[in-house]
Amino acid sequence: QQLDLDLAAIEKGGYEHFMLKEIFEQPQTIYDSLRGRLSLNPAQLTLSGITQFGNELSQAKRIVILACGTSWHAALWAEYIIEELCRIQVEVDYASEYRYRNPIIEKGDVIIAISQSGETADTLVALEKAKQQGAIILGVVNAVGSSIARLSDAGAYTHAGPEIGVASTKAFTAQLTVLHLIALKIAELKGSITAEKFTQQLTELAAIPEKVQQILSTQHEKIKLIAKKYKDAKDFLFLGRGYSFPIALEGALKLKEISYIHAEGYPAAEMKHGPIALVDEHLPVVFIATKDFYHEKIMSNMQEIRARKGQVLAIVTEGDELSKEIAQDYIEIPAADEMLSPILSTIPLQLLSYYIGVELGLDVDKPRNLAKSVTVE
Ligand code: G6P
Repeated sequence: QQLDLDLAAIEKGGYEHFMLKEIFEQPQTIYDSLRGRLSLNPAQLTLSGITQFGNELSQAKRIVILACGTSWHAALWAEYIIEELCRIQVEVDYASEYRYRNPIIEKGDVIIAISQSGETADTLVALEKAKQQGAIILGVVNAVGSSIARLSDAGAYTHAGPEIGVASTKAFTAQLTVLHLIALKIAELKGSITAEKFTQQLTELAAIPEKVQQILSTQHEKIKLIAKKYKDAKDFLFLGRGYSFPIALEGALKLKEISYIHAEGYPAAEMKHGPIALVDEHLPVVFIATKDFYHEKIMSNMQEIRARKGQVLAIVTEGDELSKEIAQDYIEIPAADEMLSPILSTIPLQLLSYYIGVELGLDVDKPRNLAKSVTVE
């Protein structure tokens, strides 16, 4: 028994939980998903699995992305990115819905499957169905040699390494990174991106691991204190717009999974169509309020919550004094390209859920009722 305990401690590499270890591994795992693929001076992107289907992807009228859980949030984010960079229509579906519908697959449609484990039953069956109808399947999978990886015609591994914490952390940021690479590759092949923009995006991506490290080093203690302050809340709202909307959904999911606190994610502009009725002095509202196209609008959404006595906790871009003034609490992250900033916003949200779970004395690595990989229906 003592030996088992020692082994477990060694595996956690000095961290109290696997979840915390995996959150802190992200500068490395994001770097690993870029390594051997991205190079600068000159800007080049090597993704052989995507290049192999270069013609099909350049001509595709539609890309359908299938996934479950956290991977589905990565899919939703990819919809924004692919439509912007590649000008191809994207549809995102829950694999569990897709498999039982009578979906329309047309010649030339490309399916992207996203899965950490590569073994999720709903995703696997949905893909089998699409494959029978002739679609090309590209996999964005973490587990090498897994069922979904084998079923895919090609793809790109996320290279996040084994993820032990049941709630996904480092696999998610690796998915965002690889999906962004895929979008850039398709855009390059298709000619829908200028050489300047391509270089700028690769340069921004290459800087992400260090910015993640900076957030972990500088914001970690502060987030611990914020978690203490908010741990007794019964409900949370998470709001974001544009590229940050899927991150709001992921923030809410993480909190539910780890702390068992009810949380909902919404596009910020939708709050007036319902969620705003929940706002009072007991409701923390987490805003992803980083500087992007929507920034002015998000600031007025924050003011609307303050006016109704809600508690605003904002993720803001470093030095954004105006947003800091509106929020009761804020977490600062480094400036980044607006498409990539969501990777950075994810980090404080993971830490927030983690520390609230720890404060509440919960088993953050193995939350009740959840499974790491759902291989049955
Ligand atoms: C389970 C896990 C989630 C994961 C989801 C999809 O619910 O607890 O963390 O996001 O399955 O799993 P996949 O392995 O397909 O990404």
